[in-house]
Amino acid sequence: MSVLIIGGAGGIGSACANQFCAEGHDVIAVSRSTVSGLADEVQQQHYNGEESGIAELCQRWVAQSRQFRHIVIATGVLHDNTFAPEKRLEDLTDTAMQRVFAINTQLPLLWLKHLIPLLSGKKPVTVAVLSARVGSIGDNRLGGWYSYRMSKAALNMGLQCAAVELARRAKQCKLIAFHPGTTDTNLSKPFQANVPAEKLFTPAFVAKRLASMMHAAEADGQLSYLDWDGKPIPW
Ligand SMILES: NC(=O)c1ccc[n+]([C@@H]2O[C@H](COP(=O)([O-])OP(=O)(O)OC[C@H]3O[C@@H](n4cnc5c(N)ncnc54)[C@H](OP(=O)(O)O)[C@@H]3O)[C@@H](O)[C@H]2O)c1
Repeated sequence: MSVLIIGGAGGIGSACANQFCAEGHDVIAVSRSTVSGLADEVQQQHYNGEESGIAELCQRWVAQSRQFRHIVIATGVLHDNTFAPEKRLEDLTDTAMQRVFAINTQLPLLWLKHLIPLLSGKKPVTVAVLSARVGSIGDNRLGGWYSYRMSKAALNMGLQCAAVELARRAKQCKLIAFHPGTTDTNLSKPFQANVPAEKLFTPAFVAKRLASMMHAAEADGQLSYLDWDGKPIPW
């Protein structure tokens, strides 16, 4: 079967590409740059990180009559060299909020927009989008991390809207908002100090969990918000 990984340079994205490849699937990993550390059999494709690049790739796959069985959207940001997660209201900046929202909320939804022709066929397709437990409003007792939390809560709402629409337009498509747990990647690096060793997952462990969850998933017209253990997360 064919599997599409978006965000192939990321810690979790690259581990997912390698996991599905090790299972013998035909894997395309999409990234803005060439990635080292991917299995030789993984086919790398590139885009500019913008909607024009997304549209170009999706049109190419449609023209090639590609059928993906699983699609993982593993893009996201928590910090970069210009901003860090906010601890208090005074830390909020317009620039950081817009940037985090653009990458965490808008980008995955723009991917879904252009993937529609590849989701609406007669064969089953499972789409997992990397969300985060901190996007849960019900689970938020610690506060902080405003932009990241808001962007993931908004992502979940966008995915719920998409699930309602896809139940009509793409009946064979199953949508999952996935929380990987704290995973040892560049994204979590600065925040790992207080994480007990047994709660810091390797990307390979998370990729294995996600792959088996996706193999078992069935289209039901619903968005599932699930953690790495397959347990539902409150909205
Ligand atoms: N690591 C954790 O503990 C953890 C916990 C909860 C949720 N998550 C979520 O899991 C997902 C993957 O995170 P990760 O830990 O694998 O992080 P990572 O190693 O930093 O990877 C980040 C990914 O995001 C993409 N990305 C970043 N900035 C982008 C931009 N401006 N335009 C397009 N793509 C951009 C990168 O795409 P390219 O391939 O194009 O470079 C890369 O694939 C994120 O959504 C994150 O919120 C992670």
